[in-house]
Amino acid sequence: MRSPTPARLALALVAALAAAALLGGVAAAAATEEAYVTLLYGDEFVLGVRVLGKSIRDTGTRRDLVVLVSDGVSDYSRKLLQADGWIVSHITLLANPNQVRPKRFWGVYTKLKIFNMTSYRKVVYLDADTVVVKSIEDLFKCGKFCGNLKHSERMNSGVMVVEPSETVFKDMMRQIDTLPSYTGGDQGFLNSYYADFANSHVYEPDKPYTPEPETQRLSTLYNADVGLYMLANKWMVDEKELRVIHYTLGPLKPWDWWTAWLVKPVGVWQDVRQTLEESLPGTGGGRSPHDQLVVKVLFILPVLLLSFGYYQSCFQTNKELLNIRSLCAFARRDRYKYKSEEAFPSYSVMGVSSSAFANSNQRFSNGMHSKLPSYFGALTVLACFMSAGVSFAFAFAIIPKQIMPWTGLLLMFEWTFVSFFLLFGSYLRFVYRWGSLDANHVGHSRFDSSENHMVTGRHHNMSDCDIDATFYWTGMAIIAIVTVLLPTLLGVTALFAKLGLMVAGGVVLASFMTYASEHLAISAFYKGQRDRNVSRSRSICFLF
Ligand SMILES: *[C@@H]1O[C@H](CO)[C@@H](O)[C@H](O)[C@H]1NC(C)=O
Ligand SMILES: *[C@@H]1O[C@H](CO)[C@@H](O)[C@H](O)[C@H]1NC(C)=O
Repeated sequence: MRSPTPARLALALVAALAAAALLGGVAAAAATEEAYVTLLYGDEFVLGVRVLGKSIRDTGTRRDLVVLVSDGVSDYSRKLLQADGWIVSHITLLANPNQVRPKRFWGVYTKLKIFNMTSYRKVVYLDADTVVVKSIEDLFKCGKFCGNLKHSERMNSGVMVVEPSETVFKDMMRQIDTLPSYTGGDQGFLNSYYADFANSHVYEPDKPYTPEPETQRLSTLYNADVGLYMLANKWMVDEKELRVIHYTLGPLKPWDWWTAWLVKPVGVWQDVRQTLEESLPGTGGGRSPHDQLVVKVLFILPVLLLSFGYYQSCFQTNKELLNIRSLCAFARRDRYKYKSEEAFPSYSVMGVSSSAFANSNQRFSNGMHSKLPSYFGALTVLACFMSAGVSFAFAFAIIPKQIMPWTGLLLMFEWTFVSFFLLFGSYLRFVYRWGSLDANHVGHSRFDSSENHMVTGRHHNMSDCDIDATFYWTGMAIIAIVTVLLPTLLGVTALFAKLGLMVAGGVVLASFMTYASEHLAISAFYKGQRDRNVSRSRSICFLF
């Protein structure tokens, strides 16, 4: 009798192990036959992938969620997506063969690699700027290649059902340099590759075609374009049946805080985002620990800055405060004293500002015998608008992009106002000094009698210079706030109505800014003249 040799035993063992591995492999393959797939080229879209993943999991699927990441994605983002439940798979970029293409399209041909994911029987591909609002599990029943038509006959590659196949992938790679791409990217290539796509049948989950067609069209429900919504101000399909929303509006991506204020369907995306779990510390609700810190600093910094400035200028001594009171009283006395005078010089003015400028001149010039230059009004308006523009751009630049819409808006107001206050306030300080220098050089002696003398009899009874200045500053702030919030308050969502409202608000704001800036500047100038003998007082406290 032959006893089994050790070699034979080992062989049997290996065979058994191999069989077990094979069975296990089959079982594993069965569990993960189908997958949802998306692509990530950089950290900017990570929040989009997180929200997409959450929206898919919320439909109750048990299928794999695979994100293909390229080198541009940081280790932290990969860990975060893994913690969210994504299978993170690294891929190298596929070079874009087109010489003429948008710059951001350098790696988009990489999307073709989903045709090479042969470990899956079928994959549903979704762009990172999509969100699933209702189960799309029935898409896995779609045939070899399913996509969605846009612009009548163009296939959109934002949502696709693909049956991975080495043959197809190799065939694509062979033709990658020869087939034209109307977009300069993968979408144009696929339109050329599936040249007859526009003639495909519409996919109906309950009515499979036999034999299975090469390509099938998905209904708009599976790839509802926000761009179309914006034009019509409604979905062109049954809203209750909507499955996937695609945020296609170029730079208006749903994760940027301002988009929620412009594009209504972003609300759906933000709602999903709010429910994101804290997969890594500080990432609940789609927050980022880094941004949270920046937001806190940004909220507190202007408050500290202003209170420090105010403390410096006003509360150093009580004497200073008294000084300001007495200044205003002095100003009032001055006015009444000269009120009886018959003739006031009137100054030539230019541009849109003439009326406000002339009025102010008459109003503030009582007793002042020196002349404002003719370009003063235009200079002031220019300074005001440039301050506003620079403040807005600065605020926009320093605020993190992917924070919550309300946080973004509040920070935007805070920083725009503070920057504007500091910038235009500096201009007013400059005008104030100009006024006092002017008074010192010219003194009271000069009175140009060749000026056109005019008595208007319109002398305002200003109660207090502080109150006057406060009115102009707060007026500008309130009009700005109302202009921005008006469409939201009125519930206007239509793009053009919204734009119209904002333009109208902008016109009102610009007019008021013109008016207010001149009053503030002229007031500052004459205050400078009045205060020439008083020790220099701080301007920030009484804002002119
Ligand atoms: C396609 O998939 C195969 C098998 O997974 C792999 O060996 C090959 O490198 C892939 N090709 C490309 C271009 O990624
Ligand atoms: C205007 O000034 C006069 C003189 O001080 C005062 O009696 C009057 O109440 C003021 N009017 C208004 C509306 O403030």
